Amino acid sequence: MADKIPYLDLPAQFRPLRKEIDAAIARNVDACSFCLGPDVAQFEKDFAKYCGAEHCVGFNSGTSALHVALLLLNVGQSDEVITTPHTFVATSWAISYVNAKPVYVDIDDATFNLDPKLIEKAITPRTKAIMPVHLYGHPFDVDPILAIAKKHKLPLVEDACQSHGAKYKGRVVGTFGEISCYSFYPGKNLGAAGEGGALVTNNAEFAKRARSLREHGSTVRYYHDEVGFNYRMEGIQGAVLGVKLKHLNSWTAGRQRVAKRYTELLADTPLKLPKQADWAESVWHLYVVRHPQRDALKKHLEDNGVGCALHYPMPLHLQKCYASLGYKEGAFPVTEKAARECLSLPIYPELTDQQIQRVVDVIKDFFRR
Ligand SMILES: Cc1ncc(COP(=O)(O)O)c(C=O)c1O
Repeated sequence: MADKIPYLDLPAQFRPLRKEIDAAIARNVDACSFCLGPDVAQFEKDFAKYCGAEHCVGFNSGTSALHVALLLLNVGQSDEVITTPHTFVATSWAISYVNAKPVYVDIDDATFNLDPKLIEKAITPRTKAIMPVHLYGHPFDVDPILAIAKKHKLPLVEDACQSHGAKYKGRVVGTFGEISCYSFYPGKNLGAAGEGGALVTNNAEFAKRARSLREHGSTVRYYHDEVGFNYRMEGIQGAVLGVKLKHLNSWTAGRQRVAKRYTELLADTPLKLPKQADWAESVWHLYVVRHPQRDALKKHLEDNGVGCALHYPMPLHLQKCYASLGYKEGAFPVTEKAARECLSLPIYPELTDQQIQRVVDVIKDFFRR
């Protein structure tokens, strides 16, 4: 059999950077600035600039950043937050962590993102925020959602964990809402050498309180203004992310090349292919195709040495952990269909044209049978 094509090839990303990364880690270790420290501070500055934002606060994960975002907005017990059922579960964790209730709204079939047309119907006097996700690297439709948020005086939190540098109408996502949150989990478009996350905002008060909340609710050592957390970013992650951020734009271009090639080569197959909206510049965190025979196609790809994955096979409203919310199957038909049909193909900047062709050949072989 030909060489396997992994779903994700992190070693291929790290290999050419190895010297730079080793040096950055060595500098950090020499300085012993392990928790926050100058490497994190420098990365925060650089990433804020990258997002076109005034402040970036480094966290130990995207989940922690989302949690703190809702605390900054004073979302709490019995409040409701409108969000999507088609995302990684951490978007909802943040809502649960502040004892609020996730209120799901179905997605738009074309972009897999929260459907702006359905949001207003879900707003109640308890709604305290809207938290859509820029999923798979493709921005959500910001303008109509922002208009609803403004009309109802609700803050908007952007979960940008999968969309570093994605653009909506030419502007990088992350500063449309009050707060946006990023993940630097290793497989993300910008990934740490471990866990990491960030909260980005133009609001100086939010940034100040976020810095306190991530560090035990403290700005002066051993004096605690409120109950806080140990959500600090590690110095080594700041150092690694600082090196990797310099490569992000060229990696994005690489992902866009792969997506374009898949779209050309798969056009004549029965697959439903992901489309970029006119107003969007996707950073293609994932390339998600759809087909009713998804499970058989997945098996065929794997049997032929092509890695693939499911994002996400079980919508959040049907997860066991959220049974108490009382949603039933059929509540969100577009999400449920996407969950049954979605299949993520390998996409990373290092994927060669030959590898892309092989993935396509294996898919075409499936449909010839
Ligand atoms: C959409 C989304 N939200 C939140 C998270 C949570 O980020 P982390 O894994 O860094 O906690 C992730 C990533 O895993 C994600 O993809």
